[in-house]
Amino acid sequence: MDFSGKAPLDFARGRLFDYAAAALLASVLPWKTGGWGSLFATAVKLSSNKLRRAARAIFSCLSSSCYHPDVAARGKFITFEGLDGSGKSTQIEKLARALRSHGVPVAVTREPGGTLTGERIREVLLHSTTSGLSPLAEMALMFASRAQHIHEVILPALADGRVVLCDRFTDSTEAYQGAGRKLGTKPVLALHEILCGGLQPELTILLDNEVAFSVERARRRNRKHKNVRPDKDENRFEQESRTFFGRVRHAYLAIATREPQRVHVINARGTPQETHALIRELVRKKLKI
Ligand code: TYD
Repeated sequence: MDFSGKAPLDFARGRLFDYAAAALLASVLPWKTGGWGSLFATAVKLSSNKLRRAARAIFSCLSSSCYHPDVAARGKFITFEGLDGSGKSTQIEKLARALRSHGVPVAVTREPGGTLTGERIREVLLHSTTSGLSPLAEMALMFASRAQHIHEVILPALADGRVVLCDRFTDSTEAYQGAGRKLGTKPVLALHEILCGGLQPELTILLDNEVAFSVERARRRNRKHKNVRPDKDENRFEQESRTFFGRVRHAYLAIATREPQRVHVINARGTPQETHALIRELVRKKLKI
């Protein structure tokens, strides 16, 4: 990973160790040297500096959900989640347009994909002729695409001060591979930690709708695409059963309950314009943009 700084937790932990070391020094050195007065004053000054820095590190760690404090200070990372056919692409387009009209620099991207390598992986993952792919291999490919995406697109855009609008991220893997394919949440979160450095969006917008409605819409859309571009086939997941998508939706809602600060459920049953108004309001309130 191309992180130039430390994870906030490691950073805070390091500071606490510093503070503990300073306190130890403050109590042991005077006894060793006998110079109680001046050494005590130095130790108190040293430890209060350490304490201040520890407090600042903990505060920055708690106040920002984004992994890299410097990156968080500059860009904003927003992800969109939901079942196939939940209307993510339309809503991303609308939000990007709205933000740009206010002069906000925006980068729109997607997963799997978003990079040359990622788009190749996407083809393998989504093509309906890809058969016999094991759930573990599927999860590994999702993460391979994501690791490259973070490295090549997401972090540079955040460092550049952009608002990154990403169609799907690790919540998709937790919902589809973790719940849909029954691999469980644990391996997904563990891989996220290792391969994505624990990068978290500031805001995740979960577009929620009934399974039957969303999946039917996705299938209709893909049939239409197939007539226009017979060479383009992204149907593998849409062939899954309603029960599969039921598990996916349930997992999404569970993630939203687990992380209410980050994940906001948006009712996607209205018209695209109504849904956009809800999203615009949320983004304004939550991220002040
Ligand atoms: P997407 O292009 O967003 O499809 P749609 O526009 O129909 O919502 O996503 C492609 C498919 O990839 C989708 O069926 C969900 C699946 N997917 C996973 O199973 N795991 C993942 O980690 C990601 C990112 C996507």
